[in-house]
Amino acid sequence: MQSPTATLQEISDLIKSDVGLSTRILRLANSSYYSIPGGVSDVPKALQYLGFTTIAQIVLTASVFGSFKSTGMTNFSLSQFWIHCFAVGQLAEVTARTLQHKNPSDAFIGGLMHDVGKLILLELAPDHLSKIVHIANEGHISFIQAEQGLEYPNHIELGMELSRYWRLPNPVLLAIEGHHGGSTNPDVLLVEWADTWVNARHLGHSGNHDAQIESKLEVLTKKMGLQPKTLQTIESHFLKEFEKAGAILGGH
Ligand SMILES: [Fe+2]
Repeated sequence: MQSPTATLQEISDLIKSDVGLSTRILRLANSSYYSIPGGVSDVPKALQYLGFTTIAQIVLTASVFGSFKSTGMTNFSLSQFWIHCFAVGQLAEVTARTLQHKNPSDAFIGGLMHDVGKLILLELAPDHLSKIVHIANEGHISFIQAEQGLEYPNHIELGMELSRYWRLPNPVLLAIEGHHGGSTNPDVLLVEWADTWVNARHLGHSGNHDAQIESKLEVLTKKMGLQPKTLQTIESHFLKEFEKAGAILGGH
């Protein structure tokens, strides 16, 4: 996908070899978001409607989420977690675009991956993950607050380990490292803000039960320097983009 010389035909051939991806692309192209008269039944035609940004979002999301399987845990829903991550990715990208940051697609993948450490807990230590969510729920605190004082590395440290192992690009590593504060990098602050906004609006769920979320959002919105009009533009663009979530995430 990163090759500048890749043609639509080559991308289309790649996608057609993956049934899950083809299904997602056709489902999205035929969703009410695009309202294509008569519908689309083949991948190359669907790609022409979707555009590169959306195709990249679908491929990235499928490759990240496809690596993990649900374990049936009762207080942590994987499908709600996917919605949370995807929403943070989309909101970060829309915000980066609106604020004219250099690489909005980095914001998407940073947002998508910011909490990937929780997936390691889900895979390797589901009981520990469940315990953290329980502590957060009982104390009305955030996931990261609930992790403090426990014997395991927290989800930031685990996420950074995984992204080094997967050799993910540096902006992703920075987003994982700084999404709970401490960074002055505007690209990282943007992911922190998007994460807080998505938590405050309860889009999906990532194990946070933070009673202070609204005031945290207010502080971060000020720190970002977002004026009410810009905020309104970002929110309405994002909510439109988020209509694609069902078609892209469905079946995970
Ligand atoms: Fe987090």
